[in-house]
Amino acid sequence: MSCFNLKNFKNPIFVASGTFGYAKEMAGVVDLSRLGAIIPKTVTLSPRPGNAPPRTVETASGMLNSIGLDNDGIDEFLSEKLPYLKTCGTKIIVSVAAKSPEEAPILAEKIEKADGIDAVELNVSCPNVSGGVDFAVDPKLCENLVAKFRCKTTLPLLVKLSPNVWNIADIAQAAEFGGADGISAINSCLGMAVDWRNRKPRLGNVLNNGFGGLSGPAIKPIALRCVRQIYKAVKIPVIGIGGT
Ligand SMILES: Cc1cc2nc3c(=O)[nH]c(=O)nc-3n(C[C@H](O)[C@H](O)[C@H](O)COP(=O)(O)O)c2cc1C
Repeated sequence: MSCFNLKNFKNPIFVASGTFGYAKEMAGVVDLSRLGAIIPKTVTLSPRPGNAPPRTVETASGMLNSIGLDNDGIDEFLSEKLPYLKTCGTKIIVSVAAKSPEEAPILAEKIEKADGIDAVELNVSCPNVSGGVDFAVDPKLCENLVAKFRCKTTLPLLVKLSPNVWNIADIAQAAEFGGADGISAINSCLGMAVDWRNRKPRLGNVLNNGFGGLSGPAIKPIALRCVRQIYKAVKIPVIGIGGT
């Protein structure tokens, strides 16, 4: 049986997915071996080009992004990025996102076969992908997706949730029922920035209304509220994210 235990990490400071690339980019900025764990950018089964630019915008209270899960796909990640990550001297928690329940076990099997991965974070909560948050807002869909992933891996499994829901505790419970060993919360908060001069969204992803995910200090109170709600609803550990 898998389990996620913080005692297995040298410290509880992990870098959040998407904010740290695939670690090589940050090697000159921080001693990677001092981190408790690295969670690299989310990868998907097939490569994704991501959203139209501009993809990031500064606001008065944090950053909005609509990267749209730009990545080269799981196979490229395992062959090109994982070998470097394994040399970083800390634990590696691979972040993945599935487009459908059918994709989940395929991703899980690929990760299970790879060497040097300490845990998986299943990102069900990207706000910048059309249809991408369905698994984070519907408990049944979430439980089903997690269960499909769970049955093909023995690695500790975290599920990363979205704050953009009415009751995050329900979704956390669903992830736990599906077999999650821990919950990561939160992903970014859905927002929008408008250029008042031309009355257009400042982010380029017009197909998604120019919406993006707000991160940074403004969302810390939301993150703390969500972590508290989840903590009271589940028995598994909660990884707090948001507000830096
Ligand atoms: C540019 C950018 C890209 C991100 N990409 C991902 C991603 O690929 N997967 C994911 O789970 N979260 C992603 N996130 C969300 C962060 O992991 C984190 O949940 C969010 O930024 C809130 O934390 P913060 O306020 O401390 O930045 C991204 C955030 C930013 C700013």
